Amino acid sequence: MSEFYFMNGKFVEAEKAFIPVRTHAFLYGTAVFEGIRAYWNDEEKQLYVFRAKEHYERLIRSAKIMYMETPYNVEEYCDITKKLMAKNNYKQDAYMRPTLYKSAQKVGPGLFDNEDSFMIISNKMGDYIDTSKGLKVCVSSWRRNSDNAIPPRAKVAGSYANAALIKTDAHNAGFDDAIVLDEAGQVTEGSAMNLFLVQNGKLVTSTKTDNILVGVTRNTIIEIAKDLGIETEERAIDRTELYISDEAFYCGTGAQVSPITSIDNRTLGDGKVGPISKELQKLYFDIVKGKVAKYKHWCMPVY
Ligand SMILES: Cc1ncc(COP(=O)(O)O)c(C=O)c1O
Repeated sequence: MSEFYFMNGKFVEAEKAFIPVRTHAFLYGTAVFEGIRAYWNDEEKQLYVFRAKEHYERLIRSAKIMYMETPYNVEEYCDITKKLMAKNNYKQDAYMRPTLYKSAQKVGPGLFDNEDSFMIISNKMGDYIDTSKGLKVCVSSWRRNSDNAIPPRAKVAGSYANAALIKTDAHNAGFDDAIVLDEAGQVTEGSAMNLFLVQNGKLVTSTKTDNILVGVTRNTIIEIAKDLGIETEERAIDRTELYISDEAFYCGTGAQVSPITSIDNRTLGDGKVGPISKELQKLYFDIVKGKVAKYKHWCMPVY
């Protein structure tokens, strides 16, 4: 069966979903998007979309920065998402990418006289990447684009040229990913995920004004850690703090909770995935599948 996407107000078969080559978003990266996951709960025979509301709230904030008109409100976006998941009849984990984009057939970077279009593409998600082994990462020689250049607070397609360089050079140097500093040399996040350190039993993460994308997963981690009695310090982080932390992990819709065991060839702790990373990871995987009553309001049922 062919997969369906949502495009210009309609569900269309994936093979028939095209955009014209002169589309502004293709020529200039002028699209804002979200990555959202849906998790299959086999006991309940239910598919749960994780924190759809928070993702669409961020899409609307990104749109505002980029002079885009949102065609729907949060409730309507969630409703379309549910319908798309159901139409695709997913009975396993899935991923979707809602994208609001400048769709004028126009050369020239201006966002004016430039209509907006909306689409969601989706696909089944295979098994998780191995999140148990611990990632080996480096500090990138690239810098994160700053709030006054291409604001990381907005999830803008064009800004992922920065993430692409960071990820590719880390890969070519034999690392799993990289940690990125901003122009002032402070730690921001990973190529396309947020970063947490563990120091003396506390979590440490960059602040919302440290040139990061303010992640939905980041907020989830801060909240569930608090409920476990683990405090989070949101503050500026120096590069060398990375090397002396007890534990570190990435988090994000794509990365989920991915422990890091070495940074720039310095082993963290004893080189194994640390206990706090492990505890948060386990709880996170239960929460996203709708298995934890306290957080079930974050999981939108499809069926
Ligand atoms: C640059 C960047 N930072 C952080 C994140 C994490 O955000 P979220 O948890 O909302 O997926 C993402 C996306 O996954 C990202 O692309």
